[in-house]
Amino acid sequence: AADDIHKFTVQRIGRVPVIKGDFQSLPKQVKNFITHCVHLMAPRGIYLADGSKKEADEFIQKLVEKGTLTKLTAYKENYLCRTDPNDTARVESKTFTVTMNQYDAVPHVKKGVKGILGHWMSYEEAAAAMNQRFPNCMTGRMMYVIPFSMGPVDSPFSKIGIQVTDSAYVLLSMRVMTRVSLQLFELLHERSFVKCIHSVGCPRPVHGRIKNHWPCNPEQVIVAHYPEQRLIQSFGSGYGGNSLLGKKCFALRIAGAMAKDEGWMAEHMLIMSVTTPQKKEFFIVAAFPSACGKTNMAMLNPTLPGYKVQCIGDDIAWMRFDHDGKLLAINPENGFFGVAPGTNTKTNPIAMRCFQENSIFTNVAETSEGKYYWEGLEDETPENVEIRNWLGHVWKRGQSKSRASHPNSRFTAPAKQCPIMHPRWDCPKGVPISAILFGGRRPKGVPLVLEARSWSHGVMLGACVKSETTAAAEFKGKAIMHDPMAMRPFLGYNFGQYLQHWLSLEQPGRQMPKIFHVNWFRRGDDGKFLWPGFGENIRVVDWILRRCENDDSIVMESPVGFLPRPGTLNMDGLPPINEAELFSLPKQYWLDDIKQNRKFLEEQVGVDTPPVILKLLKNQEEAFKQC
Ligand code: PEP
Ligand code: NA
Ligand code: MN
Repeated sequence: AADDIHKFTVQRIGRVPVIKGDFQSLPKQVKNFITHCVHLMAPRGIYLADGSKKEADEFIQKLVEKGTLTKLTAYKENYLCRTDPNDTARVESKTFTVTMNQYDAVPHVKKGVKGILGHWMSYEEAAAAMNQRFPNCMTGRMMYVIPFSMGPVDSPFSKIGIQVTDSAYVLLSMRVMTRVSLQLFELLHERSFVKCIHSVGCPRPVHGRIKNHWPCNPEQVIVAHYPEQRLIQSFGSGYGGNSLLGKKCFALRIAGAMAKDEGWMAEHMLIMSVTTPQKKEFFIVAAFPSACGKTNMAMLNPTLPGYKVQCIGDDIAWMRFDHDGKLLAINPENGFFGVAPGTNTKTNPIAMRCFQENSIFTNVAETSEGKYYWEGLEDETPENVEIRNWLGHVWKRGQSKSRASHPNSRFTAPAKQCPIMHPRWDCPKGVPISAILFGGRRPKGVPLVLEARSWSHGVMLGACVKSETTAAAEFKGKAIMHDPMAMRPFLGYNFGQYLQHWLSLEQPGRQMPKIFHVNWFRRGDDGKFLWPGFGENIRVVDWILRRCENDDSIVMESPVGFLPRPGTLNMDGLPPINEAELFSLPKQYWLDDIKQNRKFLEEQVGVDTPPVILKLLKNQEEAFKQC
């Protein structure tokens, strides 16, 4: 009878009605969290999301009516979303880690130097910042409650989160990027969850103008992580990396801190399977900074005959050693949030097939035929179609000076639509990893591939990863930036401790994967790429796999590690490649590079730098001086 009562009476928290879902039946800790959020943000209603297709369809229809989404009529269920032009990327400078002790969050940075490996805030400062923003911030808006799992629900690797948000775009995107399901609430009678609080920061009535039907509050953006509380608070932005809290905030920053405590790894890595012509399958992970082609590599279309690539994930890997000492990896995500520009049937034909339906395109251009358009699709788009750019203005190819799409425009597509998704991509056990690759966009000096001499040498190479800056964050212009382990924007704790954690993973009885550094982006003196990249990268992978089988005949020593012996990379069928230049190690370049890296570690990581890293860097310098 008690059950019947709340079926027919409106459930409320204070005066706020629950407009969908059964609040009363939720586990106590979930009720407490939702009640706290309601009191804090004062929404007009509470909506418990169930993650169903029906629910998504209802929201899509509402957002189309409002003008937030536009149907791309050439496809089945593809939509375009234009954001406020001031809300298009992650904001690293407003992303914080809040801990009791500053040095749990960030390293001992040299006095007078600005730290770039995360930003710390005290609880007091954070409370002040949040008190200026969150109270009543959802006035007049609905609060959606989204229960989600990072990782397959039945995997021992998986973690549950609950995100509250006042953005329906976030609700739709979370359903693609994570596993949203009401059943997760049941598990929370026994398990804990990561608390994710998000608001676009635009209570009603709205002051000022909303641009493109995209409420946000760019001046007040803050993204705060509390690893000690397993809590995330994000305010003012609806953009993916700032608002889909399961992704960077949870699966990298908070999970990173959990992983350190629990002895595993949460990394900014793609996971791929490669089957050789001999039908032997290998799994590899690769850490490249944002917009260096992780998605392209994860969906690599091999040009060498007999090779098969399958995708497990394109952005995040959670990994742990099992009892046999094998490193197992899962992809905690459920979809792809990929950079659109540059994606086409030549560079990534597989990605193109992922987003022909059920996908959301954010800040791309659209054609009069109801298709998406961005830089890179010139050859696949008829000359005579009319194009509206990401801002919605008529845009003329070859005449307009501006870009059609925003450089950080994105596609959001379900992983299961990927035609080469591995049959075991969502296997709860994970897949065994043979090799770890690091890399970045390095126009000069850095060879196509090199192999670390040892686990710790590999960690040193990872610590020295650098890349040309990208559009995924707020940086302008093309500088080479340090992005150690491709984790600079995503560290959840002190980077020195993070390196120490990596070093500590090498233990007797464990089969440590081999570590490599790759660079698809080296340019010759004429400014042209020395390596064709994309599907041809299978040639480098092929060499790496032979190394994983311990073929010692294909390597030679160099000051930076092992290099391919000349002639051991399969170049069959390629136009002439300047191998000498592609693999050269200009002595002065490297001596400068080592100096820079040492300065970087001394200034940015200071006393937290594990001594062995500095020793290995010193060895490298000595080796160069002697050659
Ligand atoms: C993001 O910004 O949400 C994101 C996925 O970042 P990136 O592509 O830079 O890794
Ligand atoms: Na919009
Ligand atoms: Mn990424």
